[in-house]
Amino acid sequence: MYQMDTLNRPQVYEALVAKCQEVGFTMPTDVHVGSLLKTLVASKREANVLELGTGIGLSLAWMIEGLDEKSHLVSVDNDAALITIAKEFFGDDPRVELVCEDGTAWLKRYNGARFDLIFADAWPGKYSDIDVALDLLKVGGIYLVDDMQVQPDWPDGHEELASALVDFLAKREDFFMSKLDWSTGVIIMTKRQ
Ligand SMILES: C[S@@+](CC[C@H](N)C(=O)[O-])C[C@H]1O[C@@H](n2cnc3c(N)ncnc32)[C@H](O)[C@@H]1O
Repeated sequence: MYQMDTLNRPQVYEALVAKCQEVGFTMPTDVHVGSLLKTLVASKREANVLELGTGIGLSLAWMIEGLDEKSHLVSVDNDAALITIAKEFFGDDPRVELVCEDGTAWLKRYNGARFDLIFADAWPGKYSDIDVALDLLKVGGIYLVDDMQVQPDWPDGHEELASALVDFLAKREDFFMSKLDWSTGVIIMTKRQ
């Protein structure tokens, strides 16, 4: 089995972890999921990538490392303080667009190009408005969600929600689906038609 330390973490990784502690952000994306995201993003040339749930910017940092020069990544979060932090780290990157807006509102008004990859890490696009998010993918595009393994600190009803999401995704015949019992529990879907 490989060692976690052999993963090439983003250059800003340590600074972002320190920022998490400074501001008390408790929901950063797991290092393995980040590494997977980077690898998947790097498989798409001139990629158009969407992240729902910028958070402190950890998954964003990984994905940015996978972007080629002509790629574009938009990341949406409704927390202005978190978007400000992300802008401090990534605001100078012309490939990256950081949006402070409710994810549902953003998904419903977006009418731009379809995406090669969507990382749905907020409620919208995962537990609501999922059809809207899936419709925004190109054929061959990837939809990824994490945090699917049951956690002891999940609030009442969350396990049923997660289970309903898995059932819903499994019924989408226009996607191939893989469930990974790995990291925090990951689902990867590829749009096939
Ligand atoms: C699991 S965290 C994202 C972690 C992030 N990917 C990272 O690695 O730092 C979920 C994020 O979704 C955001 N969020 C929650 N509800 C939202 C909504 N309705 N619209 C947009 N963002 C939302 C939260 O502010 C939070 O930053």
